[in-house]
Amino acid sequence: MTDTPTTGDQSASLERTVARSHQINAELAKNPSAFRVLTGDRPTGDLHIGHYFGSLSNRVRLQNLGVDTVLVVADYQVITDRDGVGPIKDRVYSLVTDYLAAGIDPEKTVIFTHSAIPALNQLMLPFLSLVTDAELRRNPTVKAELEDTEGRPMSGLLLTYPVHQAADILFCKANLVPVGKDQIPHIEMCRVVARRFDERYGRAEADRPVFPPADALLSEAAMILGTDGTKMSKSKGNVIELKMTADETAKALKKAVTDSDRHITYDPVNRPEVSNLLAIAGLCLGQDPAQIAEEIGDGGAGALKKVVTEALNETLAEHRTRRGELVADPGYVASVLQRGNAHANEIAEATLAEVRTAMKMAY
Ligand code: TRP
Repeated sequence: MTDTPTTGDQSASLERTVARSHQINAELAKNPSAFRVLTGDRPTGDLHIGHYFGSLSNRVRLQNLGVDTVLVVADYQVITDRDGVGPIKDRVYSLVTDYLAAGIDPEKTVIFTHSAIPALNQLMLPFLSLVTDAELRRNPTVKAELEDTEGRPMSGLLLTYPVHQAADILFCKANLVPVGKDQIPHIEMCRVVARRFDERYGRAEADRPVFPPADALLSEAAMILGTDGTKMSKSKGNVIELKMTADETAKALKKAVTDSDRHITYDPVNRPEVSNLLAIAGLCLGQDPAQIAEEIGDGGAGALKKVVTEALNETLAEHRTRRGELVADPGYVASVLQRGNAHANEIAEATLAEVRTAMKMAY
């Protein structure tokens, strides 16, 4: 995820999306079968506790509510802003392993990789004809991602990947996309593509658009920072990964940055490092971070770290046990992905057939 500078326009769209997200959360509980969820991750590194609290637990919640869920392991997105794929296969398996360990059930949720689904990728072609280069160049998330690459020229794929992401969502006709706020411009682009496809090509056979409009479902969890109080990033060594052991977690938290005030208070603006540790403990314990701070009182950073370490290791214990079992059975993880890919291919072929009919290219 990328931090994107916010303009007036964007904050209006953020407000709208937040309001709509609340509405949808209420509807989800009442009528889960009205939704199909599509979301996913770029396999660029191992998942960490930010993903666990920010996205994984929400996906498991949606799946268990009975919402039809599809997860994309976005392997083609890896090459939007870098030269090679890196250790892609290991990363893909590691991602699927964390999905399963977190409680994603392959009987309920389809897990697939881009590169295995030709019909999904083919949708990119007609979709690209529906957007202008000016629209693509305006996308604030793409701009921020380009800046993060420090002087690298914009690749054609980086410029157009929001359209590819629209294909991720539309190939399975998802109408709900749980994402962070950096992804809102992409969901808006997806809605534009769906609407313009309908305007230009009309409907296949049924009297409804081929593609439904998709909504973003914003994550409610506060963003967790790294152990130094800044944005989590592997290169800064401030990340607690889900694959770490309890000991490694304790060590990482021992090194966590705090401040010199022994009296622990929850004050995210003035004490970001201490407050971040309190926030993590709060998520694990299901408690208000300010309450935890009060309980620690004058116990200082040592007591705070003890509380966070115990709470986090307890919360992740089950995940780690299951992770260990899955790592010991790579054939199983591979078979989950193969079945997911087969299923996604069926869905994508059916949608592409409708697209060919709508475009009068069914020969
Ligand atoms: N770009 C998303 C991220 O970095 C991952 C992703 C790929 C995605 N395809 C998607 C998210 C489709 C939602 C819908 O987090």
